[in-house]
Amino acid sequence: MKEKVSSKFRELYGEGAILFASPGRINLIGEHTDYNGGFVFPGAVDKGIVAAIRLNGTDKVRAYALDLGEEAEFGLNEEDKPAQSWACYIFGVCREVQKRGGVIGGFDTVFSGDVPLGAGMSSSAALESTFAFALNDLYHCGIDRFELAKIGQSTEHNYCGVNCGIMDQFASVFGKKGHLMRLDCRSMEFAYFPFDPQGYKLVLVNSRVKHELVGSPYNDRRASCERVAKVLGQEFLRGATMEQLDAVKDKISEEDYKRARYVIGEERRVLDVCEALEKGDYETVGKRMYETHWGMSKDYEVSCEELDFLAEVAEECGVTGSRIMGGGFGGCTINLVKDELYDGFISTAKAKFAAKYGHEPEVYDVVISDGSRRL
Ligand code: GLA
Repeated sequence: MKEKVSSKFRELYGEGAILFASPGRINLIGEHTDYNGGFVFPGAVDKGIVAAIRLNGTDKVRAYALDLGEEAEFGLNEEDKPAQSWACYIFGVCREVQKRGGVIGGFDTVFSGDVPLGAGMSSSAALESTFAFALNDLYHCGIDRFELAKIGQSTEHNYCGVNCGIMDQFASVFGKKGHLMRLDCRSMEFAYFPFDPQGYKLVLVNSRVKHELVGSPYNDRRASCERVAKVLGQEFLRGATMEQLDAVKDKISEEDYKRARYVIGEERRVLDVCEALEKGDYETVGKRMYETHWGMSKDYEVSCEELDFLAEVAEECGVTGSRIMGGGFGGCTINLVKDELYDGFISTAKAKFAAKYGHEPEVYDVVISDGSRRL
């Protein structure tokens, strides 16, 4: 990617570009907990965005999306929002940097990525983090890493229509090779966890059902959680118990009740998984992953037929844990598989999925990698 991006940059804009990169992410457990003030357990992956950037001394950005073969040009003021949705991510980051006092000017850029789009691996966070990190570096804005993650999140909220939590951008900015991160999304305290489960592999199976968070379903889930938290008199659902939820059952809709039930269960599961990991008890980790899957499917209703099928096939193959990963509505399952079952699981999953849906899923071995950086 570095070569491709650099040579296209030279062709379009000349010499002198600097390369920046940011990764996509996985999440072991803790889904839809971030915006509820809860815990998440992500790690950065070895797939991401690489951008060549050079300041151009004007007040305009010229950006070329190599994978789409499209160019956009836009200014840095609020009214300059570009038409292409991919360019809105870059524009949004520029605006959010400025809102935080960053004094920036125009630049030329070519970027490319290898995070599969719509796979629930946060290609958009990778894009946001790349530009937030790069602008901060090139313009010496002095913004700290947490604020860089928030710049990406605010970009989603204010320019892309997704009221996401902080997990994806946090993981992309803070990722560390060989480590998962447990983030408390209420206090924003986090810790790195070395993750190298002996005898197991983590593998993603991409249904290739494109997930799309823009639009209502994701924001709807978040609104349900906020409504229930309000009825409970809390800022977040985090910390609420099933007893408290049951006590307000007749004051909330059946749908909101189920969604809150999922979130409360998920809080418990993340803590269980942390404890289990400390003991090297991967069987418990795996059980909780399946529970998350079915909670997301039946209560939170963010799964789809194909992902349920993949989780079922995993279970039939004796896979330790399997669940839908990320926001949902398509994308990947994340699977914790014993080494000796790996080959059999992958070939069975491919064959059964293809027989039913007419195409094979894509498979990615998880390599936990570093976060945003200048190359
Ligand atoms: C998306 C959002 C995250 C998080 C996950 C679900 O990836 O961007 O903030 O809510 O969904 O865990």
